[in-house]
Amino acid sequence: AAAQETVKVGLILPMTGPFASTGRQVSAGAKTFLEMKGDTVAGKKIELIIRDDAGVADQTRRIAQELVVNEGVKLLAGGGLTPLAMAVAPVATQAKVPMIVTSAGTASITKASPFITRTSGTLPQYSLPVGTWAAENGIKKVVTLVSDYGPGIDAEKWFSKEFKGKGGEIIEAVRVPLANPDFAPFLQRVRDAKPDAVFVFLPSGAGALFMKQFADRGLPEAGVKLIATGDVTDDDILNSMGKPALGTITGHFYATAHDSPENKAYVEAFTKANDNMRPNFMSVGGYDSMALIYAALEKTNGDVSGPAFMEAVKGMSWTSPRGPVSIDPETRDIIQNIYMREVKELDGELHNVEFATFKDLKDPEKAEA
Ligand code: DHB
Repeated sequence: AAAQETVKVGLILPMTGPFASTGRQVSAGAKTFLEMKGDTVAGKKIELIIRDDAGVADQTRRIAQELVVNEGVKLLAGGGLTPLAMAVAPVATQAKVPMIVTSAGTASITKASPFITRTSGTLPQYSLPVGTWAAENGIKKVVTLVSDYGPGIDAEKWFSKEFKGKGGEIIEAVRVPLANPDFAPFLQRVRDAKPDAVFVFLPSGAGALFMKQFADRGLPEAGVKLIATGDVTDDDILNSMGKPALGTITGHFYATAHDSPENKAYVEAFTKANDNMRPNFMSVGGYDSMALIYAALEKTNGDVSGPAFMEAVKGMSWTSPRGPVSIDPETRDIIQNIYMREVKELDGELHNVEFATFKDLKDPEKAEA
């Protein structure tokens, strides 16, 4: 038989540096997909090439360029943070190589190139339901506290828009630096403002320090409820946060505790292959980037050319460990359920336990335009 053709997929992630947990989770999720489904699709062998950008956008762009030009990579994936995803956009456009964003959540990313699609989610998509929930559950006054860059600005805007639209009041909007934040002075401001709740977005990994300082500053005793996007109660680190995390209400697209046969199989395969590490939402973005690649290549009969691949991606639907998902044919963003969850103890461990579902949400930022 003829030698099987190999399709190289370049997965560029922060494997080192302050956001290494994102790289570790996304790459493990992608590998879990290959372990579960095998490494061939539509007669092609899929070869995953994982590269470390250390969370530095100039590196991401250089590596993307190098993979496409010198290594014959046909598909790119990754984008561990918004600036890293944005750095790949010009490369994807120029080379007509698809880029599947596994992690970053700023709404505008998919507008940066017609060759970008996304298997994570957008901050508007999963912040808006938190605003709905807060307004409908007796919360009147909120201070928002977000990381001061793309996803934080999106989260602040869409939580606030929804919450105010339903009668709530935003009494202060606090933005904290992305790099090495010390939350203490900001939390003092929150405490002084005496809100019913603080709404928080921080990128994956940053929630543990926040939770500690939230407790240390006495916010719970001052009667300030914590509501957030699920990035803050990231399943990768949630269990280490301990008691202060209990009762936190969040909105997100994935929880390790999500109850479905697909997720049960995923969590089992993932934890087994990764020394009992708990898969978080980043891992599912990685897993689904491969799920999307497989589904698209089946549809194109293995044609990896950018335009054919992107056509195949539009409208694609599949069942993810997170639930049913599809790619919006107009925006190339993911349509998915957003779950409201509460941090609770399950079998002696802390989990994000889902209690309500907002079905099949599109990115509201693009619906608005
Ligand atoms: C982004 C990064 C994260 O770690 C996260 O949880 C959500 C969004 C971002 O940079 O877009």
